[in-house]
Amino acid sequence: MMNIHAPGTLLDLEPSRAEFRDAVLSGLSSGTKTIPCKFLYDVVGSRLFDRICDLPEYYPTRTECGLLSLYGDRIAEFAGSRASLVEFGSGSSVKVRLLLLALNQPASYVPIDISREHLMQATTALAQDFPNLSISPVCADYSALEALPSSSIRGSGRRIGFFPGSTIGNFSPQDAGEFLHLVKRLLGPNSLMIVGVDTPKNRSTLEAAYDDAEGVTAAFNLNLLARVNRELDGDFDLTAFRHQAIWNERESRVEMHLISASKQVVHVAGRRFGFTEGETIHTESSYKYAPDCFQTLARNAGYCPRAVWTDEEGQFSIHLLEIAS
Ligand code: AVJ
Repeated sequence: MMNIHAPGTLLDLEPSRAEFRDAVLSGLSSGTKTIPCKFLYDVVGSRLFDRICDLPEYYPTRTECGLLSLYGDRIAEFAGSRASLVEFGSGSSVKVRLLLLALNQPASYVPIDISREHLMQATTALAQDFPNLSISPVCADYSALEALPSSSIRGSGRRIGFFPGSTIGNFSPQDAGEFLHLVKRLLGPNSLMIVGVDTPKNRSTLEAAYDDAEGVTAAFNLNLLARVNRELDGDFDLTAFRHQAIWNERESRVEMHLISASKQVVHVAGRRFGFTEGETIHTESSYKYAPDCFQTLARNAGYCPRAVWTDEEGQFSIHLLEIAS
């Protein structure tokens, strides 16, 4: 088959500067200040996130990669030959390589990511290593995606959604269910969905994973303020905020915050925001689900759980879900 989707034919739906500004202004105006976590991923943030994945404290990446290597053959049995893969939040497209190696003649791959430059670099590298794969990158906020580019899915085989890294945990449980509904529509009947899901565990392991000794996660979180300064004419003093990660057991989520060290005033895009000492900007929630809880969520969104794989310590899980026909 001719590869008409050379890397470089990008579908560009990157959120605009105005969208970023509106989200920041409205988030900083609300009672508990917040900025949506998707804006953590500019080029700098995406690179910092790649470094997080290699940290000794950040167990999800290596555990999930281990599971993908171990159970890739099982996934391949479900997938059959000439499958088309669609990845939500593809980042550096590292994990999908494990899947591509396990699958029988995968036909096409649609990586979707909010960080355009990072996406293009990842796509170019992947195309070199998988010359027979048709790759159609889409730069977009996948939670707002209405349709896939019609020409992008090229295989005669099954469609497979891939959502690794427990990124689904960045949605609230309700939003996660709504997102799964959207994916069901995007992929269509008889498709498969592979979702990586982090599990609840002891506080010290969780908090260390989101507040590492080297300070990479702190830099990742603080980069959000640096990005506001760069792109929205902000004047955040990065030394006047500190990174905090807390395990909120009641909500089953790790929260990332930026805490104001003092009473201060900050300007963004011509607007003025007051902070009290200790006031926080909530920048990310990372929900954790036990396997049966996530299966219930998936069932309620119209999926049939077909398999769930976990490591020996139960640190992380991969769910294989089927969309009923
Ligand atoms: C992007 C969802 C995989 O929530 O664990 C890592 C992002 N934030 N360290 C997560 C993140 C802080 C990460 N995911």
